[in-house]
Amino acid sequence: MLSAQERAQVAQVWDLIAGHEAPFGAELLLRLFTVYPSTKTYFKHLGDRPDEVQLLSHGQRVLEAVGVAVRHMDNLRAALSPLADLHAHVLRVDPTNFPLLIQCFQVVLASHLQGEFTVEMQVVWDKFLTGLAVVLTEKYH
Ligand code: HEM
Repeated sequence: MLSAQERAQVAQVWDLIAGHEAPFGAELLLRLFTVYPSTKTYFKHLGDRPDEVQLLSHGQRVLEAVGVAVRHMDNLRAALSPLADLHAHVLRVDPTNFPLLIQCFQVVLASHLQGEFTVEMQVVWDKFLTGLAVVLTEKYH
């Protein structure tokens, strides 16, 4: 899916995020829920306005999973299989929500990494996150 060079570029950006999974993840969710309120329907248990603690806690889990994906780029399907089962069969998250999350993720990266999140980096991260979403949504049937 990604060339060796593209994988190295994904890992280079991840190095800037690693260790900051909770705040990056919280901002990702805040943007997702605010810009696309329909995504909140899957998080009813967090109430109408998830608080900072909830955002940090779930945000950290989501970003840690992205970290796992970064470390297993050559074997995404196996590495994310339990998470794919969860989203498809238990949570039943509609696949149309994944591009919304990817878009918000890129805004978070661009706003925090600024000059380091170059156009070239956006291209590879879009490819990487789309591949991740494909794996997380391919068990729907
Ligand atoms: C749970 C990752 C996309 C809705 C989770 C968990 C992780 C995760 C790691 C926790 C799993 C566990 O507790 O074992 C991801 C990643 C995504 C993604 C990496 C995309 C790249 C989405 C999308 C939605 C969604 C697009 C819906 C808009 C949920 C819900 C839960 C969950 C409702 C359960 C929350 C809870 O238990 O409180 N996700 N997710 N996810 N995800 Fe995702």
